[in-house]
Amino acid sequence: MGKILIINGSPRAPKSNSKQYAALFSKACSWESHYRDLTRANHLELCQAADEVSDVLFVFPLYADGIPVTLLNFLKTWEEYGSRQKPTVSVLINCGFLEAEQNNVAVKMMELYCRENGLPFGSVLKIGGGEAILSTPFRILVQAKIKKLARAIVRQENRTFQVTMPLSKKMFLNASTSYWIRYGERHGITREQMASMQIEP
Ligand SMILES: Cc1cc2nc3c(=O)[nH]c(=O)nc-3n(C[C@H](O)[C@H](O)[C@H](O)COP(=O)(O)O)c2cc1C
Repeated sequence: MGKILIINGSPRAPKSNSKQYAALFSKACSWESHYRDLTRANHLELCQAADEVSDVLFVFPLYADGIPVTLLNFLKTWEEYGSRQKPTVSVLINCGFLEAEQNNVAVKMMELYCRENGLPFGSVLKIGGGEAILSTPFRILVQAKIKKLARAIVRQENRTFQVTMPLSKKMFLNASTSYWIRYGERHGITREQMASMQIEP
């Protein structure tokens, strides 16, 4: 039986959607699993932990059509560390936009990294609408796909799954726009301020 290390690569790991996806995965996976948030200070600890498992699952958000820099920095450390074991790497990635395919480039980045470092590549789950889906009735669609991902990893298969909210782009845009406007209002930020390039008021 394998053992899996789940690494949350979200820059806001303790409060992230990725944390919730990772928790659902742990529940669905029949293997022993160990969960860790990725921080600037624990790279070495995670490299050592990766030497003790058969599989690593990276759970992270899409940032600017790619992988977040927090995760990129860890991948550089892991490469330099030169792991003794070569665990199979799987990926669970979520993005804010509706289309799960938005995650394709980030998946390719992970595949390339694994190829260059002699790490076997496992399975993938791409989630669209990842900021919202868990608080909607479509949560069950994600849970079902996470179960499939867990099963594929345990069976050592190379599978790719994806899931999103079954909404039209127009409905998604309307719902997300009013969500963010209300969110801004709660924090004293106007729509115009949110649309500007200024990140500090
Ligand atoms: C700096 C930044 C860049 C982002 N870039 C994208 C993007 O290119 N495409 C996308 O669909 N979502 C993008 N998002 C949205 C996140 O992927 C989404 O909110 C995700 O649910 C965050 O997951 P987390 O809570 O696990 O960090 C971005 C979010 C931030 C903060």
